[in-house]
Amino acid sequence: MGTLRIAVFLFIVAAMSSFISIQVYGENTSPKLDHFEKLHFSRAHLHKIQVLQRDSVSTQKHAKKIPKAANAGPLVYHVTSYGADPTGKSDSTDAILGAISDALNGPGHGVLYQGIVNLGGARVDLDGGNYLISRPLQFPLPGRGNLVIHGGSLIASDNFPNDGYLIDLSPASNNATSAYNYEFVTMRDLLLDCNYRGGGIQVINSLRTNIDNCYITHFNTTGISVQGGHETYIRYSYLGQHITGGGDPLERNFTGTAIVLAGNDNSVSEVVIFSAAVGIMITGQANLITGVHCYNKATGFGGTGIYLKTPGLAQTRIVNSYLDYTGIVAEDPVQLTISNSFFLGDAYVVLKSIKGVVNGVNIVDNMFSGSNSGVEIVQLDQSNGGFNEVDQVVIDKNNVNGMKLKSTVGRSSIEGNSSSWTADFNSVFVFPNLIKQVQYSFITNDGSFPVHALRNVSGNTVVIQSQVPAAASVYITADQSI
Ligand SMILES: *[C@@H]1O[C@H](CO)[C@@H](O)[C@H](O)[C@H]1NC(C)=O
Ligand SMILES: *[C@@H]1O[C@H](CO)[C@@H](O)[C@H](O)[C@H]1NC(C)=O
Ligand SMILES: *[C@@H]1O[C@H](CO)[C@@H](O)[C@H](O)[C@H]1NC(C)=O
Ligand SMILES: *[C@@H]1O[C@H](CO)[C@@H](O)[C@H](O)[C@H]1NC(C)=O
Ligand SMILES: *[C@@H]1O[C@H](CO)[C@@H](O)[C@H](O)[C@H]1NC(C)=O
Repeated sequence: MGTLRIAVFLFIVAAMSSFISIQVYGENTSPKLDHFEKLHFSRAHLHKIQVLQRDSVSTQKHAKKIPKAANAGPLVYHVTSYGADPTGKSDSTDAILGAISDALNGPGHGVLYQGIVNLGGARVDLDGGNYLISRPLQFPLPGRGNLVIHGGSLIASDNFPNDGYLIDLSPASNNATSAYNYEFVTMRDLLLDCNYRGGGIQVINSLRTNIDNCYITHFNTTGISVQGGHETYIRYSYLGQHITGGGDPLERNFTGTAIVLAGNDNSVSEVVIFSAAVGIMITGQANLITGVHCYNKATGFGGTGIYLKTPGLAQTRIVNSYLDYTGIVAEDPVQLTISNSFFLGDAYVVLKSIKGVVNGVNIVDNMFSGSNSGVEIVQLDQSNGGFNEVDQVVIDKNNVNGMKLKSTVGRSSIEGNSSSWTADFNSVFVFPNLIKQVQYSFITNDGSFPVHALRNVSGNTVVIQSQVPAAASVYITADQSI
């Protein structure tokens, strides 16, 4: 059945159903918010149109121009209906952009956040195909929400720009009427192959964005970049520059960053990062990392699992994660929790001084496992100067196998017949020359009752003395955190 006949048929349907407004046919029409209600009544007709539409595609694979009426009703925009080539042989950029453009220009259903038109759950369906893309799929206009892009693979062509992203949620025309570009846009069930050109997904100044079940590979820059906005949730996804199962002979040469969070209140959960120089780079606040497995590039090769490059109030939580031969670096952290995580292969945490501030940091209840090479579980990088403001830092209750335990709490028990008991905490303490509180118990073995006192605290060493020699057990707890 030819395109022309469909168009004629559609016209007849449209004529019969007076409630299908002319907007359905229009190019670049702006959404009318009352339109959705009207469309509701004509579901039956529209369903027919859809079926017809699908038939026409199978018989007419390379139809470039399909009447827009096909987009009304159930708001599913099949990219193959726009001429996208699911075999990945010919360039599908324009076709997919056409589907995205129509989706964004589709009927509205009220508003979400102020100024964001609710597209009512419209879907851009990749129809399970593989599509070659030569330019970013950049959203043409801002101010839309409640849209899904799903179900297929996108592959960057050899001339894809290295500074581009396959899917780009930054509006080409920025005449936004909202403080945010997009709200509740979901990208799921996608494989993005960046072909070592550019990156995977860029989300700019958007609210409540979902990236679910995506596999992003061969990025040269960044797998997923989140800039501004808040609440981008990245879940159940796999990111790697090179497709490897670990122990890759080229691991030394991995570059790029899997995820950049340059915004606040985002979440990365149940994500595996299997290759990249940096797994997650965080420069915003209040981000949550949970259930993330990083084996992107070993620390020994210069890689970093999670890099917190937010000197000052970071409010980052890294929990239940797995740092596999690659560690965490935090610059001047203020409010940071790292807990219930597993560090394998001598992976460790570095606190890096920029202005010498570390405040409100909990590194507790983690497991560390290494190769008995004496690698410390928490290390300071004071190459820019020492930490001089250390407050509320608790590094404690971590268990260690084949690595060197470091802590902010030291416990020592000394037995002897003496008038002086010395505990040196330098081998366990994280910070040099810092003891904020000491407690001790003094128990004589022979029932004697000598006068004793805390006599000296300096250089992470504590000295207890008694007025006369005594056979005693002395238990000392010193704390760098309180
Ligand atoms: C913004 O620009 C786009 C593309 O030029 C246009 O379709 C849209 O209607 C404009 N929106 C506003 C609010 O001006
Ligand atoms: C990948 O990025 C690097 C810079 O990090 C650049 O030198 C190189 O040309 C890029 N590769 C391609 C294919 O553009
Ligand atoms: C890896 O990178 C080094 C320099 O960083 C280069 O000399 C070497 O050729 C690269 N190896 C491969 C296989 O690309
Ligand atoms: C402890 O040492 C003193 C001498 O310094 C000695 O007189 C005393 O008997 C010793 N006490 C014990 C229980 O060994
Ligand atoms: C405490 O010990 C340090 C190091 O041994 C020493 O330099 C300092 O003079 C001692 N302070 C007092 C009050 O004894």
